[in-house]
Amino acid sequence: MFITIEGIDGSGKTTQAKLLAEYCESHNKNVLLTREPGGSDVSEKIRTILLDPNLIISGRTELLLMVAARSEHVSKTIKPFLEKGGVVICERFSDSTFAYQGYARNLDISIIEVINNFAIDNLKPDLTLFFDHEPEITFSRLNNHDRMELEGKEFQEKVRNGFKKIAIREKKRFKVINVKDFNIEQVFEKVKKNVNCFF
Ligand code: TMP
Repeated sequence: MFITIEGIDGSGKTTQAKLLAEYCESHNKNVLLTREPGGSDVSEKIRTILLDPNLIISGRTELLLMVAARSEHVSKTIKPFLEKGGVVICERFSDSTFAYQGYARNLDISIIEVINNFAIDNLKPDLTLFFDHEPEITFSRLNNHDRMELEGKEFQEKVRNGFKKIAIREKKRFKVINVKDFNIEQVFEKVKKNVNCFF
């Protein structure tokens, strides 16, 4: 089973991903917790470039690097684990590329579709949890800004709107979890409700 976790920067994805991994393990599942960009040797090196605040990277190059990192991650890490019957929980996946590079950077969605499909080689998440929160609040939680976070609140708002558009298109797979005014335990209760039907 392949679960992805999405949201704007600082929406609490990492905390919930760890809790979910422990929860799946308690149901005797073999779990891999991973992230994008990253999750394989090459992809983690690409991540370092992508998030370096001292680099200026064009939107097109950013897109190609995100997708290149994904291609390695899918073929070297995710697919082999799924083939052995494991559960993969991945912080960010294709939806982030559509939200950030497509809706926020205004790159052509149909081109993203083509190159991303090439990279994922037919791999689609079974379930995506989108943690929804206003950028104003989440942004103030971040302290060491990386290159993407430095884009600011307006950019994060465009990203959030992008995710909302995906939510309308992909109702069955893409579950919106409102995290505003809910604590970690309350959010995790919502997470469990969405995954329980898969056990
Ligand atoms: P993270 O900080 O949540 O690990 O993600 C790194 C940054 O990369 C985050 O700002 C979102 C961004 N990103 C994209 O712009 N496109 C993508 O396809 C992915 C996976 C991440």
